[in-house]
Amino acid sequence: MAPRKAKTTCEFGDFQTPDELASKALTVLKETGLDPASVVELTCGRGAFVIAADDAFPGATILAGEVNEQYVAYLKERILKKKGSLDNITISNCNFFETDWSSEIEKLQEPLLITGNYPWVTSAALGAIQSSNLPKKSNFHGYAGLDAIMGKSNFDISEWMILRNLDWLNGRHGAIAMLCKTSVARKILSHAWRNKLPVNRAAIYAIDAMASFGAAVDACFFVLEIAPEGHANDCAVFDSLDSRIPENKIGFHDGMMVSDVDGYLENRHLCGNDPHYVWRSGIKHDCSRIMELTYTGSEFLNGNDEEIDIEDSLLYPMLKSSDLGGKRKKERKKYMIVTQRSIGDSTSYISESAPKTWSYLQENSSQLNARASSIYKGKPEFSIFGVGDYTFMPWKVAISGFYKNLEFKVVGPSDSGKPVVFDDTVYFLACWSEEEAHLLHRLLMSKEAQNLLSSMTFWNDKRPITVDLLKRLNLGKVAKQAGLEQEYMRHALGRSERNKQMTLSFSSAAE
Ligand SMILES: C[S@@+](CC[C@H](N)C(=O)[O-])C[C@H]1O[C@@H](n2cnc3c(N)ncnc32)[C@H](O)[C@@H]1O
Repeated sequence: MAPRKAKTTCEFGDFQTPDELASKALTVLKETGLDPASVVELTCGRGAFVIAADDAFPGATILAGEVNEQYVAYLKERILKKKGSLDNITISNCNFFETDWSSEIEKLQEPLLITGNYPWVTSAALGAIQSSNLPKKSNFHGYAGLDAIMGKSNFDISEWMILRNLDWLNGRHGAIAMLCKTSVARKILSHAWRNKLPVNRAAIYAIDAMASFGAAVDACFFVLEIAPEGHANDCAVFDSLDSRIPENKIGFHDGMMVSDVDGYLENRHLCGNDPHYVWRSGIKHDCSRIMELTYTGSEFLNGNDEEIDIEDSLLYPMLKSSDLGGKRKKERKKYMIVTQRSIGDSTSYISESAPKTWSYLQENSSQLNARASSIYKGKPEFSIFGVGDYTFMPWKVAISGFYKNLEFKVVGPSDSGKPVVFDDTVYFLACWSEEEAHLLHRLLMSKEAQNLLSSMTFWNDKRPITVDLLKRLNLGKVAKQAGLEQEYMRHALGRSERNKQMTLSFSSAAE
């Protein structure tokens, strides 16, 4: 039976909360003044939160549900042993997705507390084991705006469930107080704030998921109080359930989530669209085995370890995120085949201007044509993305999306004079001169710019740094504050003239 149990654990996201943790979490909640008339725990398992709620809020009516009938039997027995009756506690053996909890909860007296620890599993993981422990498709798509919230086909089951809870609290006084991944808590907050839900108070208490569940996850006890008159747009973040003073506040300001409200408010005057400098991401080709070559000192090898002999006209020196950090050895240099000067350009010119490159691409066309992303459909063969005049400008100020710090790097042309290109994990500003690149670097590394950017960065995200984040900083305003406005304007105005010339020279070369 052991393997079956492993599948079940995964399928039902079954990580039972230790009693002490549930009890501590609800004690903290009680300290904040919450006094629910009704408590709801809809995936109650062996009942740590049911017991803790009955202890913390003795007069409350408790409504519990759980799909596993053994857990339901265990919990009933446990309560009967503890207090002799189930009088204020109803426990049903039922499936969250198949139960009309909305109508049940409508009948409950306010304030409501929806608590517990929903299954720790994603829809992708359930898909992989062909489990049906998912919201029914019709519900899923019928839920207003859910696609927009989830963004993608993969989502955390607990996120879906908490969003339903929010629905049930519409127009009522109540709170959600749930153990969940911190990323889920943030998504729920973002949903609540973006949709102007009446948040009365929000708090995140970090928990040690490894100690309590043996899971290496960034998790928390997430509290979200809803009241028709609520309008809180900050969420206190505590580093544990023992802390009483928040280490930080995340919030929703100027239409976006910020990771450090105080830092953001101090530097928000530097926000805004910079008309002169546009952040770009590196080249996307989705076929590194063919499009990226390594120079060993004597030969070029592709990702299949094949020796490649092609012209160097379309070969550009390349840096990936890991190279940008400067930690890799430099002897083996990387190159990328850049087939277009801008998105959608015809690639047929390569057959004449670089016949060996053309043959190489043709020989490997099956791999290139098999690229899954729909962006390549209907585009010239061997197309790439994230390419434009900016790709070919000589100097760049770059940062990796994966960095856990705001370390920008100045990157100049290679020894041969060719501009360096990046893969699509890198973001950069393109510059015409070394002086311009160093000015932008100085502005980006200034205390004010760093403080503003870090106040908007969620460092635990897989890719904490994004173009969306970087473009919120107006370098012109940073320059003004640093007394470098004249220098900034000289470069900014000079570049628009040179950009025009560059476009003209390429279009006449193409004619
Ligand atoms: C992470 S455990 C937490 C259990 C309990 N809430 C606690 O805090 O200890 C998730 C629970 O959800 C239950 N579960 C999973 N899918 C369910 C579903 N569709 N309906 C009801 N319960 C479900 C599992 O059996 C498991 O007991």
